[in-house]
Amino acid sequence: MEIRQLFDPQSSTYSYLLWDAASREAALIDPVHGQVSRDIQLIRELGLNLIYTLETHVHADHVTGSGQLRETLNSIVLVHEDCGSKCADILLRDGDLIPLGSGKISIMHTPGHTLGDVSYLIPGVAFTGDTLLIRGCGRTDFQSGDPGTLYDSITRRLFTLPDDTIVYPGHDYSGRSYTTIGEEKAHNPRAGKGKSRDDFIAIMNGLRLDPPRHMHEALPSNLRCGIIDYGPGNLPR
Ligand SMILES: [Fe+2]
Repeated sequence: MEIRQLFDPQSSTYSYLLWDAASREAALIDPVHGQVSRDIQLIRELGLNLIYTLETHVHADHVTGSGQLRETLNSIVLVHEDCGSKCADILLRDGDLIPLGSGKISIMHTPGHTLGDVSYLIPGVAFTGDTLLIRGCGRTDFQSGDPGTLYDSITRRLFTLPDDTIVYPGHDYSGRSYTTIGEEKAHNPRAGKGKSRDDFIAIMNGLRLDPPRHMHEALPSNLRCGIIDYGPGNLPR
């Protein structure tokens, strides 16, 4: 399966275009509303047929492009059943398999950042959303986040993948593009080597982060696939 990593500089979000080279069937993980024109242009230039948009979770820091892509390209919106989505076409569960050309994308439910986080797996690669970031992880202080649950998702699920599995995260704020399971087991400062579940919970509960700037627009909008009436001249990015 082919992979193209795409970046939204405003929210530091990574989107991932996956496609099967022979059939040209494609899926787009975590599309961003303000980048839909770019993504449609790339999909057309590469001669792809966008079958799915896949959300790793309901985002608080940017508006999804999934609804706009569905309207333009007839793609299908998939999210985990615990996301509370009011607009998805298919609700996912742990262990589900999504066919894409001759390959399959498998679903690993990895909650903790939110209730409905999933990681998408293809051979040798994990798209981990905000569950596991490069030397970090998503916050756990809203959207039903729970640090103990996140620790278990990282250490009992993702860290059981082979060490050489490439990890493509949902964000990076320092210019890094990907990591591996082995690297994060060794060097993740929150959940890596030497960090217990209690250590992780104490770290996460002590973060005291400001809320995401666009949370109050992004959350209700994303429950409706990014399609919401903001009024003239006030469209979200
Ligand atoms: Fe998130």
